[in-house]
Amino acid sequence: MTLERNHDTAPRSVLISPSMLASDFSRMGEEARRMQTAGADWLHLDVMDGHFVPNITFGAPIIKALRPHCDLLFDVHLMISEPLKHLGDFLAAGADQITLHAETLTRAQLMDAIVQVRSAGKRVGLALKPGTPLRPIVNYLHELDMILIMTVEPGFGGQAFMTDMLDKIKQLRREIRRQTLDVDIQVDGGITSETIPLAYQAGANSFVAGSAIFNAADAAQAIAELRSACSFFEKKEPKKL
Ligand code: DX5
Ligand code: ZN
Repeated sequence: MTLERNHDTAPRSVLISPSMLASDFSRMGEEARRMQTAGADWLHLDVMDGHFVPNITFGAPIIKALRPHCDLLFDVHLMISEPLKHLGDFLAAGADQITLHAETLTRAQLMDAIVQVRSAGKRVGLALKPGTPLRPIVNYLHELDMILIMTVEPGFGGQAFMTDMLDKIKQLRREIRRQTLDVDIQVDGGITSETIPLAYQAGANSFVAGSAIFNAADAAQAIAELRSACSFFEKKEPKKL
């Protein structure tokens, strides 16, 4: 997969990652396929353990069962207290990118996770809950493929986007540029065609959306609308004479 990179001047490519949390769990294979046909870039898989977050969803066996149904990049968001215990299982199940929560890791554990995921040739991301500060992670940016800025408290779909996270996204984009790195910024929670341009303008380029895609009558149209909402700001550039 080619990811266009983020430069100050060039428009960033928009990566839409539908969250299977909002899918019909009785037909997950079909739902994953439907997202691929609808034009998604990645497939977001929310793993919850009932401990780090209140809900329990699914684990590696379900991801393994989904793998033959869909060729999209499997974007696995681990909302679990002891991610290192299970990393091997998720890699074996077919995860292409694994995002761990900063709140669940010591510095040594983060390094261990990065080595494990990278040795398997996969991408590694670090997620921050809304209340988790950015500062401690700026030293690790060069080791990571993606930072996930949560725009809701993790654990539930269908919540409202927290606009006070926009500053955090801006600061992070600024820091990535300052270090001249190539790191994706993902946002997750409350993404709709109203909120996506705000996150895009702040510097995000990967967007998780559950309700906005799965609750729509036409998923392809919902994905296209999310994409075109990001170009809103580019279209506003004054026309040359
Ligand atoms: C929340 C999950 C999200 C969730 C987003 O903890 O990480 O991926 O599915 O759902 P919406 O898009 O409905 O806010
Ligand atoms: Zn998620």
